[in-house]
Amino acid sequence: MRTVVITGAASGIGRALAERLRNEGDRVITVDLHDADVTVDLSTAEGRSALVEQVAELSGGTIDAVVANAGLIRPEPVTVAVNYFGAIATLEGLRPLLERSSAPRAVLTTSLAAVMDVYEDLVESCLAGDEEEALAIAEKYSGGENIGNNLYASTKAAEARWVRLNAPNPEWAGAGIALNAVGPGIVETPMVADSIADDASRASTA
Ligand SMILES: NC(=O)c1ccc[n+]([C@@H]2O[C@H](COP(=O)([O-])OP(=O)(O)OC[C@H]3O[C@@H](n4cnc5c(N)ncnc54)[C@H](O)[C@@H]3O)[C@@H](O)[C@H]2O)c1
Repeated sequence: MRTVVITGAASGIGRALAERLRNEGDRVITVDLHDADVTVDLSTAEGRSALVEQVAELSGGTIDAVVANAGLIRPEPVTVAVNYFGAIATLEGLRPLLERSSAPRAVLTTSLAAVMDVYEDLVESCLAGDEEEALAIAEKYSGGENIGNNLYASTKAAEARWVRLNAPNPEWAGAGIALNAVGPGIVETPMVADSIADDASRASTA
């Protein structure tokens, strides 16, 4: 039986994946703001530390897979804190537990939005690991018509680039841990309910 950690597992894609893996016989440790085995806020340093501590305790110290999936699409800095820094902290924080598995796997849910227009300065500060600067840049771009999607797309592009940059490294491939990203198109979940609510919204999203 494999032990799989899924963040953002109280809703949408994460919840569906948790159900599927449980049905297939895996042990799933769910992580979310609510309704999860590990209830933490991945936008904060405290929440990210608590994630690692609690998963270590619940799993007994070894996990076989991590799905860094928690995310949101609000045109505010918190989207950068959760989507990029929360996801990277999840992967890096749980990596030592993965290393003990005989067949470890890690995956990050990025998005088709990664190929859309992005704020390059925001993407660069994410990849530099400078959360303070990234949040300040995100604050600058917050609000305003149609700006939210560029902010979201920037977090998803940064995630995708982080995976490409890191997957071949000694810590991941070198340690036998396959690190991948998936980039879904539109999936009908609460996250996108507003953007596919009517024909006009669907047309502008397509
Ligand atoms: N739905 C789509 O069309 C779509 C397309 C491409 C990529 N994605 C990505 O898939 C992932 C899952 O999205 P979804 O559509 O299932 O959304 P969703 O809103 O249904 O689920 C996201 C989950 O993340 C959790 N979350 C948000 N902030 C958090 C925080 N601070 N700490 C811990 N958990 C937090 C939420 O509580 C929620 O349960 C996201 O990363 C999203 O960007 C979604």
